[in-house]
Amino acid sequence: MATIYFAFPGNESLTQLILAEEPTGIIGSFELRNFPDGETYVRILSDVKGKELVIVCSLNQPNNKLIQLYLFSKTAKSLGASKIKLICPYLAYMRQDKVFKAGEGITSHYIAEILSSYLDELITIDPHLHRIKNLNDVYTLKTEVVHAAGLIADWIKNSIPNALLIGPDSESEQWVSKVAAKAGAAYTILEKVRSGDKNVKVSIPHVEKYKDRTPVLVDDIISTGRTMIETLNHLKDLNMKAPICVVIHPVFSEDAYTLLKAAGASRIVSCNTISHESNVIDISSLLVK
Ligand code: R5P
Repeated sequence: MATIYFAFPGNESLTQLILAEEPTGIIGSFELRNFPDGETYVRILSDVKGKELVIVCSLNQPNNKLIQLYLFSKTAKSLGASKIKLICPYLAYMRQDKVFKAGEGITSHYIAEILSSYLDELITIDPHLHRIKNLNDVYTLKTEVVHAAGLIADWIKNSIPNALLIGPDSESEQWVSKVAAKAGAAYTILEKVRSGDKNVKVSIPHVEKYKDRTPVLVDDIISTGRTMIETLNHLKDLNMKAPICVVIHPVFSEDAYTLLKAAGASRIVSCNTISHESNVIDISSLLVK
C-alpha cells in the first residue's frame, strides 16, 4: 500500500527529493494556514483511511509548526490514518537540556513528551544530543537518528584540498571528529562560553602550524551566528586563509546569515535539513527507507 507524504511549508523540495527515491510514496494534498486571529486551519484532502502517513517538517522557528503538526496529526488520526511518521530533519528544543538558571525547566523533555504523545515514529538528522545522550532517553516513540557526517566529509574531501577542521566548542567534537576521520583531515576543538543569546566567547585556536591549510568551521547549528563569527574573528587576527563555514542545520535567526557573510567567511555551506540559499549538501538519501 502506498505511503502518503505530506510536505509541510518549506519542506517541498526535500520531500520531492525523497519521493524520487521512494517508488511506493505518493504526495498528499492538504490545506494548512492560519486564520486572521493566528489560530491554525487544517484540512486533509487525500484519503488517509487505513494509510501510513509521513509528514516532512523541519522544526526551525518551531512554535507555530508544533501546533500545526499536532492539529494535522490529530485530524489525520480522526480520519482513520493508521500510522504517522514525522521526518524532522532539524529537531528543535534540544539545547535546553538542563536547568541552567534557577526557575527554568528542561524544555527538551516537555517537547519530547508532546511529540511522543501523538506521533508513531520520528526520524531526524543529528539532533543536538549533548547532556541527553540518546533521543529515546526523552522521546518515548520509535525514533531513528541518521547522521550527515559522511556526506559532509565527502563534500570537504572533494571541494577543499588541505582542510583544517575547526569545532567551535566541546559539543561540536562529536560531529567534527567524525567528519575529520572520514575526510582524512586534521581537526581542532575550541572552548566556548555563552553568557547570553548573542554573547559568546570562543578560545583562540592554536593553528600556527596549519598556516598553509584552509580552515573549515564545522558545527551542527548556526542560529545567531555568533559562535562562528567569534571564531572567524580569531582566524582573521591569526592571518589564516579565508575560512569556510559548514553547518548541518542552517537555522540562521534574524540577520545571522548577513552578519556571518560580512565576518569574512569565504563560503557558507549547509545541508538541506532546512531550506536555505546556503544549501549545498543534499541529505535526502539519509531519509529514504
Ligand atoms: C550549541 O552548542 C551548538 O552546537 C551551536 O554551536 C550553537 O547552537 C550555535 O549558536 P549561535 O549560532 O547562536 O552561536
